[in-house]
Amino acid sequence: MQESKKNNEKSDIKKNKKNKKIINSVVIAVDSISSNESFVRVAISAFIASLNPTVDELNDVKTAVSEAVTNAIIHGYEDRDIGKIFITCKIKNNEITIEVRDCGTGIDDIATAMTPMYTSKPDQERSGIGFTVMETFMDKVVVKSQKNLGTKIIMTKKFFTGY
Ligand SMILES: Nc1ncnc2c1ncn2[C@@H]1O[C@H](COP(=O)(O)OP(=O)(O)O)[C@@H](O)[C@H]1O
Ligand SMILES: [Mg+2]
Repeated sequence: MQESKKNNEKSDIKKNKKNKKIINSVVIAVDSISSNESFVRVAISAFIASLNPTVDELNDVKTAVSEAVTNAIIHGYEDRDIGKIFITCKIKNNEITIEVRDCGTGIDDIATAMTPMYTSKPDQERSGIGFTVMETFMDKVVVKSQKNLGTKIIMTKKFFTGY
């Protein structure tokens, strides 16, 4: 009995060594105030620094996160109500997953919203390229949304150079 437990532990150690798994996560909740956009950008940068991303990789992530948080503030909470924005960042090996969630207006038609140059606020001189930027700088972007319940953006990216 004792011997088999020891063997199991040994094989667990071997498995972990082989997979080189690094798993870590952080959750940040901020009010939908525009100054918090830069806070989230810096916080996420600091969190993923352990992956040794290149300057370009880091800038890609910062830009994508900025777009998602700005959208939550401007569109989700319509730039007037103060609501919470939840940002989760997970690291698994050399891949990060970032979720940005608001409990705001939600999106009626996700495909239209994601069309390059589409904006529902042309009067405010929005450029309509936020989603395009996220898709360009991250490997994958998934949008989940329900009218009047909120929106969740899930973005993933793999780092290669520094890892
Ligand atoms: N978090 C959100 N909540 C509600 N609507 C959103 C959200 N994010 C994006 N949208 C909708 O998707 C559209 C496109 O977003 P985006 O590409 O960032 O362009 P822009 O922000 O310049 O309008 C927005 O105009 C808005 O209608
Ligand atoms: Mg935008």
